[in-house]
Amino acid sequence: MIKKVSFALPDFSGKEDVLIVPIFKGTSVSRGILRKLDILCASIIDKYLKQIMFTPDMGETLLLGINRDGAPKNLIFMGLGDKASFSTSKFMQAAGNAAKLAKKGRFETCHFLCAGNPDRMTLAEFLVLFIKGFSLALYTFSRKSDIKKEKSVEELVIYTSKDKRSLRKTVQKTLLVIEHTGEVRDMVNAPSNEFTPSKMAAKARSLAKKHNVHCRVLGIGDIKRQKMGAIAAVSKGSVKEPKLIVLHHNRHRPRLPVICLVGKGVTFDSGGISLKPWEHMEEMKGDMAGGAVVINAVAAAARLNIPAQVVGIIPCVENMPGQRALKPGDVISTYSGKTIEVLSTDAEGRLILSDAISYAASYEPKAIIDFATLTGACVIALGKSIAGVLGNNQILINMLLNEAKSAHENLWQLPLDDEFYERVKGDIADYKNFSGRDGSTSSAAALLGSFAGDIPWAHIDIAGTFWSDSGSVSWKPKGGTGFGIDLALRILESLASRRMLQRL
Ligand code: BES
Ligand code: ZN
Ligand code: ZN
Repeated sequence: MIKKVSFALPDFSGKEDVLIVPIFKGTSVSRGILRKLDILCASIIDKYLKQIMFTPDMGETLLLGINRDGAPKNLIFMGLGDKASFSTSKFMQAAGNAAKLAKKGRFETCHFLCAGNPDRMTLAEFLVLFIKGFSLALYTFSRKSDIKKEKSVEELVIYTSKDKRSLRKTVQKTLLVIEHTGEVRDMVNAPSNEFTPSKMAAKARSLAKKHNVHCRVLGIGDIKRQKMGAIAAVSKGSVKEPKLIVLHHNRHRPRLPVICLVGKGVTFDSGGISLKPWEHMEEMKGDMAGGAVVINAVAAAARLNIPAQVVGIIPCVENMPGQRALKPGDVISTYSGKTIEVLSTDAEGRLILSDAISYAASYEPKAIIDFATLTGACVIALGKSIAGVLGNNQILINMLLNEAKSAHENLWQLPLDDEFYERVKGDIADYKNFSGRDGSTSSAAALLGSFAGDIPWAHIDIAGTFWSDSGSVSWKPKGGTGFGIDLALRILESLASRRMLQRL
């Protein structure tokens, strides 16, 4: 992915290996910066557009060699379609396509002609979307034995005549989001024989150390001592030791408000005794995506110096069948003292999160937000590009919906009426972990909400968005998507403002 972004005036030195040129339908080369470029390139742009050798439909790309002194050595035309029907997702797709072409051409440094943003979008927003689409498309993950370190694009030079100081700041933050999105993707893509709860804890520790975040990891002894019966129970079928990771940014500033992020960290979800069917079971190595988002969000919050105490709580387990495994009908006692009857061992996420959310509540935070690949029903309801949001505080949820729009990581609110809280009440225990498939995103959330008490809490179900199975979106290669990092950071920034906290 992109490691470095710099800015320059669009002077066209002739040293550019490749210049990426965004072109809308009807773009005229008769004036402005494009005219200057066209003259340098002996009118080749004009010729290609007029003779319709390149139709600038959204996402279309063309690599063109230019053999002229003082002109860029190559151009990549990046078609953006009609300005009137411009959409951010299509634009990111186009940027990703341009990246793939640049990679094919083995260009290590690319120049981008940053101009022509549509009216309803600032140049900064235009640039951020380009960099995100471009950079995230270059992500790769492989465990092939013969993998050669392929050359890829590493540097972008942005040609613009606009104020660079504010752009530079925005771009810096974008690069940070991209870096942590890559980290989340790596964790989700890592096979579960490699990435166990212990490895996840070690990864959290090293990220925490790097970015000056306090990190504490509880092993099975501590988990049992603390009476976190749900985490202990789910882990019983596996030989892998469970871990509870607790990250704390600004731990030494007690006057700052506390915000808790909780992330589901199931490093493999076989379903346990309620075994899943085999199809797509391999994707369940990514059932720790919520945890990966939380680990990275706390690290990034520290790098951005977000003025709040941010506590990340990640219960990590492997959910396996086995001699010692949790069984349907078992009753477990959670950290809060409440009991849960297990009707499906495959509804394990809500079990471990029950412990984690009541543990989060003990910090007396202003808000708790959890990220979890929780229910198949959420994938059915909202598809693969929108995550579900539910919670007990509409002001908090409205803020999340707003931030989701800015992050281009969409959320859709699902209901959490009293009937769902009624449904999770148990027959022989305080609660049960399964109450029918109908509306099960809401009933799963209701179980979590029962452990959040009165604390403003929101749950983000990323079961549909954490994984891309086709790779048809250029910037979301097959595998982990890293969905949620940008959103989590925006949520933290918003919550860190006192005005927002007072409204909750
Ligand atoms: N990890 C799964 C949910 C999931 C499904 C995530 C598909 C990503 C893609 C969760 O633990 C689970 O198995 N949920 C079951 C619960 C059911 C048995 C009550 C579900 O939603 O089907
Ligand atoms: Zn499950
Ligand atoms: Zn699961």
